[in-house]
Amino acid sequence: MLLEVQELCVHYGEIEAVRGVSLSADAGEIVTVIGANGAGKTTSLSAMSGLLRPSTGRIAYDGQDITRLPPHKRVELGVAHVPEGRHVFAAMTVAENLEMGAFLRHHRRSPEYKKSLDGVLELFPVLADRASQVAGTLSGGEQQMLAIGRALMAEPRLLLIDEPSLGLAPLIVKQIFEAFGEIRARGVTFLLVEQNAHQALKIADRAYVLETGEIVREGTSESLLGDESITRAYLGGNVAV
Ligand SMILES: Nc1ncnc2c1ncn2[C@@H]1O[C@H](COP(=O)(O)OP(=O)(O)OP(=O)(O)O)[C@@H](O)[C@H]1O
Ligand SMILES: [Mg+2]
Repeated sequence: MLLEVQELCVHYGEIEAVRGVSLSADAGEIVTVIGANGAGKTTSLSAMSGLLRPSTGRIAYDGQDITRLPPHKRVELGVAHVPEGRHVFAAMTVAENLEMGAFLRHHRRSPEYKKSLDGVLELFPVLADRASQVAGTLSGGEQQMLAIGRALMAEPRLLLIDEPSLGLAPLIVKQIFEAFGEIRARGVTFLLVEQNAHQALKIADRAYVLETGEIVREGTSESLLGDESITRAYLGGNVAV
């Protein structure tokens, strides 16, 4: 397993937002965590990237215990986080945002940097057209592409992505999910958090369902898509997906 999370608990003060979550992702897999508002998806992901400190539990990456490592050390090991709401550096240009993503990895003038950049621009050509535009003036979809591109500049082996489809038009969502297929083909493993369960289950190999801080179901995406209780709760009752 590339990622193995065991019995993860995260508190905000007295409130236990994540209660004993265990999940894993094998190298090359796309694993999704679906669940309603407030289920604890963002909290779980933030503990995995090191932005939040779990109260108990263990996070292992590539066989190494990373539970207590600071975020930048996890990035160095190959774990990148695309946060909910994108959080691009609004006052910086597209090119500068991408440069920020690479700073732990390669110098801007190195051939390796150029290679990472070419890889991102091939995936999202619009970012090349907009290289000198200030990121805050990009459309929502372009900002999401930039946030993903910035994470890829760190050359991750594991990508933690929080709600990439949030607030975006279906056509843009389709484009972004197609890019995920390509990124996976380049050898990256995904932990994808989504409220858009339909889209997530279509691309993922396996899925976990999170409810009020606990995993209540897990299985192959196919099995969850075929399960009426899941489709009713998370896919608006539309079984014909
Ligand atoms: N900074 C915080 N302080 C206190 N409580 C928080 C904080 N952040 C989140 N929570 C609470 O923790 C629970 C889980 O929140 P979280 O953001 O992880 O859910 P989520 O599944 O990502 O939801 P959404 O789909 O709306 O993004 C919620 O009850 C939320 O109110
Ligand atoms: Mg969230």
